[in-house]
Amino acid sequence: MTSQTTTAYELIGVSRSFGTGDAAVHAVRDVNLHIAAGEFVAIVGPSGSGKTTLLQLLGALDRPTAGKVLFEGRDLAGLSESASADVRLHALGFVFQQFNLIPTLTARQNVEVALAPLKTGGSARRAKAEELLDRVGLYSRVGHLPSQLSGGEQQRVAIARALASEPRVLLADEPTGNLDSATGDDVMELLRALSADEGLTVVLITHDDEIAASAPRVVRVRDGELVATDNAVVAP
Ligand SMILES: Nc1ncnc2c1ncn2[C@@H]1O[C@H](COP(=O)(O)OP(=O)(O)OP(=O)(O)O)[C@@H](O)[C@H]1O
Ligand SMILES: [Mg+2]
Repeated sequence: MTSQTTTAYELIGVSRSFGTGDAAVHAVRDVNLHIAAGEFVAIVGPSGSGKTTLLQLLGALDRPTAGKVLFEGRDLAGLSESASADVRLHALGFVFQQFNLIPTLTARQNVEVALAPLKTGGSARRAKAEELLDRVGLYSRVGHLPSQLSGGEQQRVAIARALASEPRVLLADEPTGNLDSATGDDVMELLRALSADEGLTVVLITHDDEIAASAPRVVRVRDGELVATDNAVVAP
């Protein structure tokens, strides 16, 4: 089916509420959104607007209380626990504001950790980790500990780690939140290149309008609702 090869996500009337009655929090409200495979989308909105909740739904880490999240044509809520774990492990990569690197392991070993569940053995694992670090421009830093890397370099290691399973989609929650603006721009440029050159679908959330503006497509959320979609640049 053509739609499965060109569509990464289709969100249909997606809501996610927490609690009930007067105490209910409607974190995501009736969101309709289409994300094509290979697209780079920034979802921007203020603190508490539902961005992380939305990303958790895209990441098969949570389920909507109403509506459907279709990933490559499949309703994520319809998957068994093991099938959704499989989607997370093989199809999706995750990057967060905190780099979450293991401080006692080198850059290469931090990436190797993510290759372990994929059962890549010994020397192949080492070679693959080095290749991934090369892709994010860190080949010369493979033997460095996180404490010997700048913040931007640590986030690149985290991106290399997220790419370990060759995911089709990268989901990034405030990946530039701990970086100064120049370093944040470099990380955005890396993500843009991964999307443009390798066809990776990137969904990035941020509260920072300037960061969002460097993405080819910007989706705005406020109080859990999608308020505007802006296709500033048409992908080549
Ligand atoms: N597990 C939960 N239980 C109850 N309420 C929650 C839960 N997760 C999120 N919320 C609420 O949903 C709303 C949206 O939260 P969310 O974390 O998605 O916002 P955000 O846009 O990511 O904010 P920030 O920019 O500060 O990270 C908030 O009011 C939050 O308190
Ligand atoms: Mg958040």
